[in-house]
Formats: sequence, structure tokens, C-alpha cells
Amino acid sequence: MQEEKNDTNPAESPEHIKRSSDSYDELKAGMASAAAAFGRFRESVARGMRILFADEEKGDFNLMKYFIGLLSLILFFALTMVGYVSVKESKMEVKPVIMEASEQCIDCHVRKGISAGAVRDWKMSAHAAKGIGCNECHIPAKGAPERIVAMPTACEDPNVRREVSSRNCKQCHSDKVAEFMKGKHSKAWLAMEAMPTTKDQPDAIMAGEKGCGACHKIGRDEGQCDSCHTRHLFSAAEARRPEACGTCHMGFDHPQWEMYSTSKHGMIYQTEKNDYDFSRKIGDWYKEPFEASSKTPRAPVCVTCHMQDGGHDVSTAWGFLALRLPEEDEEWMGYRVRILQGLGVLDANGKPTERLGAVKAAQMARLTREEWEAERRKMLNVCSQCHGETWAREELEKIDGLIKEADRLMAEAVDIVEGLYRDGILPRPADYPAGVDLLRFYEVQSGIEQTLYVMFLEHRMRTFQGGFHSNPDYLHWYGWAEMKRDLVEIREEARRLREEHKGG
Ligand code: HEC
Ligand code: HEC
Ligand code: HEC
Ligand code: HEC
Ligand code: HEC
Ligand code: HEC
Ligand code: HEC
Ligand code: HEC
Repeated sequence: MQEEKNDTNPAESPEHIKRSSDSYDELKAGMASAAAAFGRFRESVARGMRILFADEEKGDFNLMKYFIGLLSLILFFALTMVGYVSVKESKMEVKPVIMEASEQCIDCHVRKGISAGAVRDWKMSAHAAKGIGCNECHIPAKGAPERIVAMPTACEDPNVRREVSSRNCKQCHSDKVAEFMKGKHSKAWLAMEAMPTTKDQPDAIMAGEKGCGACHKIGRDEGQCDSCHTRHLFSAAEARRPEACGTCHMGFDHPQWEMYSTSKHGMIYQTEKNDYDFSRKIGDWYKEPFEASSKTPRAPVCVTCHMQDGGHDVSTAWGFLALRLPEEDEEWMGYRVRILQGLGVLDANGKPTERLGAVKAAQMARLTREEWEAERRKMLNVCSQCHGETWAREELEKIDGLIKEADRLMAEAVDIVEGLYRDGILPRPADYPAGVDLLRFYEVQSGIEQTLYVMFLEHRMRTFQGGFHSNPDYLHWYGWAEMKRDLVEIREEARRLREEHKGG
């Protein structure tokens, strides 16, 4: 049944898209010919007038010239009719071909008062302008994820599915989907599911897309493309604004929205945003590097730095975990090994565990020097659109150095807690890997492990993320200063636990 419908779904064939844009071109050609006809009319009227007045002045009545004037007028009306008819014909060609299928959807939904907002937003979209209807997205395309094909539908049309995968968008936007699949967003669901305690959380939080799942769904079923340009407007201009990223990139362990909005860059954005023209493509903003225009963002927004030229393949050099391999600095590598053991990626002897497979699959860390350098180069190219390159490089290198300092504190904390397991002061649960298991997040047994997790996921993150987003307060008071405080607490608590243990 599904297959059958798909075969008749116009969205299935690239021909259809060609057809719709062909008839769009015809429509434009029709308008152009009408305009040309109007031009010719103005010319002939002007000629007729010139003839008339010239003749009156001379007092010489020339019937031949009148005749020519009249002929021009007739010609004008004829041409206008041709232009009008061809416009009408093109319109007739666009509408039924594309709209027929979604007309049924809209008719019934309007009649029954269902999803009026969706219809309204769609009508304002670039899709509606080009005749891309409801059916093109809501009837799963060939190769759509099985989960979507198999799900029940509340719609009276049995072919309709509520959820839409990037497979449907791919029929017309294969370039954007291919870029997206290369980037980190497409790995988001995988990364979430790879965490050891994901299975222990209520369904609503994960598969129900309410907590972790609400943000990580961006990578579910080959990508949710309405994450930044929301349905049913699907506006590129909306996605260019930093607010588009805010719902997910905020809060506890990745407060990029808060850090950016209160950085110097973000304050300039807030002061001047009403002047900026977000309908322009990102790649066009600085095409004329020395052009003065209040419409071009004077301060960068998220996509200036992370989606250069509109590339949908977002990724950074350090990534979320701020880990890279290999590390040439030996001292630093020592700290990093302790952290990797804490993450259960290396075992007690420093040998890779099976978790390294998950890290690789979800691209959680850059695993070659070249990969890391390529991302850093891309970023420096952005900064040097506005700043001096040497200055910008030094700004970023200061933060690289700060990651080493944060890792030193982190390694000491991991060591202390690890020592408690080793000496039998804290029991190590059977399902833990060799290390302390930072990836269990809050699913731990004791206060000291809670402090360790907060130190890693909240405070270490803020130290370097605040640095990279030029936010002094996040870097220092919410980041570095808190790490120091965590470490004091961990030392104190370990001492107390050891004494308690000695006392029996
Ligand atoms: C004969 C009436 C009718 C037609 C035709 C129709 N729909 Fe529906 N649609 C409904 C009803 C009724 C619902 C249920 C609303 C609810 O209670 O959530 C619905 C729900 C939906 C939903 C949500 C489904 C879900 O599982 O939550 C989508 C998406 C949808 N319709 C899209 C479409 C599209 C696209 C078409 C055309 C291909 C279409 N509809 C044609 C009546 C119709
Ligand atoms: C360009 C693609 C596209 C078009 C065109 C489109 N939709 Fe949707 N629609 C989506 C996406 C994406 C979702 C979110 C699906 C998900 O959760 O995975 C959605 C969700 C929905 C939902 C369920 C969720 C909700 O907010 O209630 C309804 C109902 C719906 N669309 C109706 C329509 C109707 C009616 C039309 C035509 C006027 C339409 N859609 C056209 C992409 C589209
Ligand atoms: C049947 C073809 C088709 C499908 C399917 C389709 N689109 Fe489009 N899309 C178009 C066309 C045509 C345009 C208009 C392009 C233009 O104006 O140059 C467009 C424009 C866009 C734009 C740019 C709007 C703007 O503000 O300039 C976005 C974003 C977009 N689509 C996203 C999506 C997403 C996401 C999906 C899947 C949920 C999707 N499209 C499905 C054909 C399609
Ligand atoms: C629906 C939630 C959501 C939205 C909206 C969203 N993101 Fe993300 N983003 C994520 C998740 C989840 C990840 C982590 C994916 C992973 O690494 O597995 C991520 C990862 C990233 C990364 C990669 C970081 C790294 O580890 O290298 C960048 C950069 C990024 N997002 C930028 C943006 C920008 C810019 C926007 C807005 C234009 C945005 N995101 C909108 C959820 C979102
Ligand atoms: C508010 C939205 C949101 C929620 C809720 C959320 N995440 Fe994330 N998650 C993100 C974003 C955004 C990133 C990328 C942050 C960055 O790179 O700085 C991310 C990154 C990750 C990463 C690292 C991926 C990588 O490649 O480095 C993992 C693993 C992860 N989240 C798992 C989870 C789990 C498990 C939960 C629930 C217990 C959860 N997240 C809750 C938005 C969220
Ligand atoms: C992280 C946010 C984000 C996500 C997720 C996202 N987009 Fe976009 N999209 C953008 C931004 C920003 C632009 C504007 C790009 C520009 O100015 O060149 C854009 C523009 C577009 C355009 C218009 C391109 C053009 O050249 O006019 C299309 C089509 C599009 N996206 C499709 C998709 C599809 C398909 C997906 C899912 C695979 C998707 N987007 C997911 C942020 C996003
Ligand atoms: C001035 C450029 C710039 C702007 C604006 C910017 N970022 Fe970043 N972002 C960076 C740099 C630099 C890094 C670190 C890159 C590296 O690893 O070398 C980064 C890293 C990230 C990461 C990975 C984890 C981290 O924080 O280090 C995410 C996710 C991210 N940014 C999202 C966002 C979001 C969302 C916004 C807007 C609210 C934003 N960024 C605004 C430059 C910027
Ligand atoms: C679109 C232009 C633009 C881009 C791109 C840009 N900046 Fe800026 N940046 C500015 C402006 C304007 C200011 C405000 C200067 C001031 O404070 O006088 C600023 C301020 C700063 C500041 C704080 C003020 C200072 O002088 O110490 C830092 C740090 C900074 N930028 C770093 C970066 C880095 C790193 C990048 C690349 C990841 C970058 N910027 C990309 C325009 C830009």
C-alpha cells in the first residue's frame, strides 16, 4: 500500500521538481513578455502623440500617421492578451500538478479545524511559493526509516505519517542532507544512546523526546531538519539567527547561548540585531570585506563561526569533551590518560576498551592531528574576517593552554576517587569499567562521585567553552573557580571517608 502510493507521489521523481521549476520559469517568461508588451505600448502611444502634436503645429492633417498610431494601439492590446494568457496558462500548469495532492489534505484539515497554524505557516513558506505541498513531506519517501514507516497514524489518510525524516527533504535538497550527515548533529542520537545509563531513564526522557531526547533528536532517523528552521515556515533567515540554536545549546554542560549572549560579540548582536539583514546568505555577508553596511552583522553570530558558507556539517576541533589524540605534550598526555580512564575509554593498563568504538562512531574526539588542525584552520579563517589572524590565533591558543590546566585538576580528582576504589573504601559496582566512569553522569552511589561528575561535566566544560566564546565570567567564576572548589571538596571528603574506614 505504502509502495503503491509512493509510486504516484510526485515528490518521488526528480522530474516533478524540474517540472515545477520549469513552469515557474515559464510563469516568469510570461510576465516578462507582458512587461515587454507594455513597453512596446508606451512607445507606440508616445509615437502616436508625437505625430499628433507635430501635425497640429503644422496644421497639416496626415491620415496615414493616424492610421499608424491606431495600428500600434491594436498591436498593444493583442500583445497584452498574449502575455496575460501565457501567465494564466503557466499558473494553470503549476497549480494542479503540485497542489492536487495537498489540496485534499488542506481541504479536510480546514473543514475539520485541524492544525490551522501548520497550514498558515506553510502558506508563508518558500515551499508554498514553489508549490511544495503537505504530501511531499508527510508521505514517507523510499528508504525512509522503518520506525517512521511502521508507526500508527492519527490522520484519515492512511499513507500519512506524523514524523518526517531527512529522506523526504533529500529528494530536493540532497546537498544539504549530505553535508548534515558528515557533521556532528547527525550523530547526536547515537551519542546519547551510547551512554551507559541511558537505558535506566524513563522512556519519556529518551525515546519520548522530552529530556535528553528533545535535544538529541536532531540526529534521530537520519536527522530532524526542523531543528533550526522550524516547521512549517522552514525559513533560512530564522536559522541564521543565534536564537535558533538556543534551546539546545544552553544550560548545565553546554551554556553556549548564555556565554555567547553576554560576550562582547553577543552584546553587539543584541544592540544592533534589528538592523541586520538575515535574509542574506551567510556566504554573502563578507564577500566585500571592506564594504560598510549596517545590514551586515558587525559581530559574529553562531552560524558565522559554525556554519561558514551555510555548511550543514558542524564540527569543532576540540569537541564537547575537549579531548584529542595524539598529544605531543607528554605531561598533558599523562593527565589525558587519567581522564580517558575515567571515561572508560582506556582500561587500567592504558589499553583501549570497547567504548573507544562508540567514541569513534559518534566522532566524539578528533583522532588525528590533521583532523584537529583542519577544524582549527576553518575557525581562524572566520576570526580573520574581522580580526588580525595572529591576534585571533593567540586568543584561541590561550584557551588550548587553559584546557591543560583544567585537565591537571581533573586528573588529580580522578586519581583521588580511583584510590578510594582501589583501597576498598568505596565499593566499585560490577558494571563499572576499570575507571571511575564519568559517563554515568549522575547515576552514581556517593556524594564524592557526584562532585566528581559535576566537576567534569559542568565546571571543566565552562572553563574552556567560556574561553572559546570570549566570556570571562563563565571561564573564571562558573568554570575555573568552581573546579578549584570541587577539588577541595573531593580532597576533604576522601580524607573523611578514609578516616571513617580506619575507624571501622
Ligand atoms: C479526510 C480528512 C483528512 C485528509 C484528506 C487528510 N487528513 Fe490529515 N488528519 C486528519 C485528521 C482527522 C487528523 C487527526 C487530528 C488529531 O486528532 O490529531 C489528521 C492528522 C494529520 C497529521 C498528524 C498525524 C498524527 O499521527 O498525529 C498529519 C501530519 C496530517 N494529518 C497530514 C495530512 C496530509 C499530509 C494529508 C494529505 C496527504 C492529510 N493529512 C489528509 C484528517 C485528514
Ligand atoms: C517541507 C516539509 C513539510 C511540509 C511541506 C509539511 N510538513 Fe507538516 N511537518 C513537517 C515536519 C518536519 C514535522 C515534524 C515531524 C517530526 O516530529 O518528526 C511536521 C509535523 C506536522 C504535524 C504534526 C506535529 C504538529 O505540530 O502538530 C502536522 C499536523 C503537520 N505537520 C501538518 C502539515 C500540513 C497540514 C501540511 C500542509 C499544509 C504540512 N504539514 C506540510 C514537515 C512538513
Ligand atoms: C519536493 C521538493 C522539496 C521537498 C521534499 C523539500 N523542499 Fe525545501 N525547498 C524546495 C524548494 C523548491 C525551495 C525553494 C528554493 C528557492 O526558492 O530557491 C525550498 C526551500 C527550502 C528552504 C529555504 C527557505 C528560505 O527561507 O529560503 C529550506 C530551509 C528548506 N527548503 C528546507 C526543507 C526541509 C527541512 C525539507 C524536509 C523536511 C524540505 N525542505 C523538503 C523543495 C523541497
Ligand atoms: C535540537 C537541538 C539542537 C539545535 C537546535 C542545535 N544543536 Fe548543535 N548540537 C546538538 C547536539 C545534541 C549536539 C551534540 C551532537 C553529538 O556530538 O553527538 C550538537 C553539536 C553541535 C556542534 C558540535 C560540537 C562538537 O562536539 O564539535 C556545534 C558546533 C553545534 N552543535 C552548533 C550549533 C549551531 C550553530 C546551532 C544553531 C544554528 C545548533 N547547533 C543548533 C543539538 C542542537
Ligand atoms: C538541552 C539539550 C540537551 C539535553 C537535555 C541533553 N543534551 Fe546531550 N548534548 C546537547 C548538546 C547541545 C551537546 C553538544 C554540546 C557541545 O558540544 O558543547 C550534547 C552533547 C552530548 C554528548 C557528547 C557527544 C559528543 O560527540 O561529544 C553526549 C554523549 C550527550 N550529550 C548525551 C546526553 C544524555 C545521555 C543526556 C540525558 C541524560 C543529554 N545528553 C541531555 C544537548 C542536550
Ligand atoms: C544547526 C541548524 C540547522 C539544521 C539542523 C539544519 N539547517 Fe538548513 N540551514 C541552516 C542555516 C543557518 C541556513 C542558512 C544557510 C546560508 O545562509 O547559506 C540553512 C539553509 C538551508 C537551506 C537553504 C539553502 C540555500 O542555499 O538557500 C536548505 C534547503 C536547508 N537549510 C535544508 C536543510 C535540511 C534538509 C536539513 C536536515 C538535513 C537542515 N537544513 C538542517 C541551519 C540548519
Ligand atoms: C566568534 C566565533 C564564535 C561564535 C559567535 C560562537 N562560537 Fe561556538 N565555538 C567557537 C570556537 C572558537 C570554539 C572552539 C573551537 C575549537 O575547538 O577549536 C567553539 C566551540 C563550540 C562548541 C563545542 C564546545 C565548546 O563550547 O567548546 C559548540 C557546541 C558551539 N561552539 C556552539 C555555539 C553556539 C550554539 C553559538 C551561538 C549561541 C556559538 N557557538 C557562537 C567560536 C564561536
Ligand atoms: C563579524 C566580525 C567578527 C568576527 C568574525 C569575530 N569577531 Fe571577535 N569581535 C568583533 C567585534 C566588533 C568585537 C568588539 C571589539 C571591541 O570590544 O572593541 C569583537 C571582540 C572580540 C573579543 C573581546 C574583545 C577584545 O578585544 O578582547 C574577543 C576575545 C574576540 N572578539 C575573539 C574572536 C575570535 C577568537 C573570533 C573567531 C573565533 C572572532 N572574535 C570572530 C568582531 C568579530
